[in-house]
Amino acid sequence: MDKLIVSGGRRLQGEVRISGAKNAALPVLIASLLTDKPLQIGNIPHLHDITTTMELLGQLGVHLQIDEKMAIEADASDVQQYRAPYELVKTMRASILVLGPLLARFGRAEVSMPGGCAIGSRPVNLHIKGFEAMGAEVTIEGGYIKAKADRLRGTRIVMDMISVTGTENLMMAATLAQGTTVIENAAREPEVVDLARCLARMGAQIDGAGTDTITIDGIDSLGGATHEVIADRIEAGTYLVAGAVTGGNVKVRNVDSHLLDAVLVKLEEAGADLTVNDSSIHLRMDDRRPLAVNVRTAPFPAFPTDMQAQFVMLNSIAEGTGTVTETVFENRFMHVHELQRMGANVEMRGNTAVITGVEKLRGAPVMATDLRASACLALAGLVADADTVIDRIYHIDRGYDCIEEKLAQLGARIRRVPGHMLEKQLAVM
Ligand code: UD1
Repeated sequence: MDKLIVSGGRRLQGEVRISGAKNAALPVLIASLLTDKPLQIGNIPHLHDITTTMELLGQLGVHLQIDEKMAIEADASDVQQYRAPYELVKTMRASILVLGPLLARFGRAEVSMPGGCAIGSRPVNLHIKGFEAMGAEVTIEGGYIKAKADRLRGTRIVMDMISVTGTENLMMAATLAQGTTVIENAAREPEVVDLARCLARMGAQIDGAGTDTITIDGIDSLGGATHEVIADRIEAGTYLVAGAVTGGNVKVRNVDSHLLDAVLVKLEEAGADLTVNDSSIHLRMDDRRPLAVNVRTAPFPAFPTDMQAQFVMLNSIAEGTGTVTETVFENRFMHVHELQRMGANVEMRGNTAVITGVEKLRGAPVMATDLRASACLALAGLVADADTVIDRIYHIDRGYDCIEEKLAQLGARIRRVPGHMLEKQLAVM
């Protein structure tokens, strides 16, 4: 298994271009299932989760063509399968998103139950409840969610909790339902808005995306469209934190700063000077050590849970004591144990991490446990006094486009080593 080796001690300096958002690209690709006309999607990031989605769509019968710029044409005119198998769903929970489009267009769908994952139980009850409210018959058999409906009916759905993929799944299904669907307590994440924009280009009648009430007037069929995926706000935030923790000077390009408002406020509190433009954010620390900040995750527009691990890391080398409270997921602090192995001073109090900054972290072998936790360990490696060897980096490849290249471009010393080579190197040391 490949490992990442990060040698700390460099101040990051320079510019990095932000890729398309994973969490926007996945639903938009899956939206191709809603039409028999081709969908052209640009600004797709080069990530494992995209490959998994393409494999899943390919198995369903979607024809996919990808060009050298990572633009994809998806043609679902010949879908013959309606099942998302366990092997794919277990590696990518977002596979659940095929349920709505398949059910709405073909009247049937089967998706493996996702099961547990490293950041909590993450159930899909809200998706199922929504489809049932729209008239689908849903059963669980042999570990699969099986859904059937002649034609979905529009209805009023009040989501018990704010769910990003839950909102997306129901919104996609509602575009082809009979009548009007109103989703209340909908997720307001920019990725939901991006999907709504793509669906509208395909002819869908959607109002209110970006607010907590989305209204969809169902129509008989959708057409093809061309769509550019929005920038990845979490990738942008991660590189800005990398700049902040190394006392560096980092500019992220190709990203709308409004997507990151809650994160930018915290970076300013941490002492960063920020210059924000139409499509770039420039962070300057000028060799200063960040100040500890208090952060509480919650659905958009509040501070994103996908930036939580990175801010635990920031606080772990900051001046003072800061708290990071996780309210979205029940078990998302696996990175804390790894940071403690690197010398971080973190005390867990329920769902709050209380972190007192130390001047330097110590390099150590560490294990990535989930996608954002692995980014936090790479950032920790940037400020550690010796090499940090990160194992299980397949997590990082699920969600960060060319992370070694981008960090190296900013001056970091980081390299990827195949597992067997590393063992040989250690044996001769
Ligand atoms: C999406 C993002 C993920 C991000 C998360 C929260 C994608 C592909 N992934 O995940 O990166 O961390 O939003 O911003 O877009 N819940 C239920 N029942 C359900 C659905 C969710 O109880 O049926 C709970 C979850 O366990 C969690 C909370 O609702 O506690 C929010 O989860 P949700 O917004 O659904 O996360 P995802 O859409 O899976």
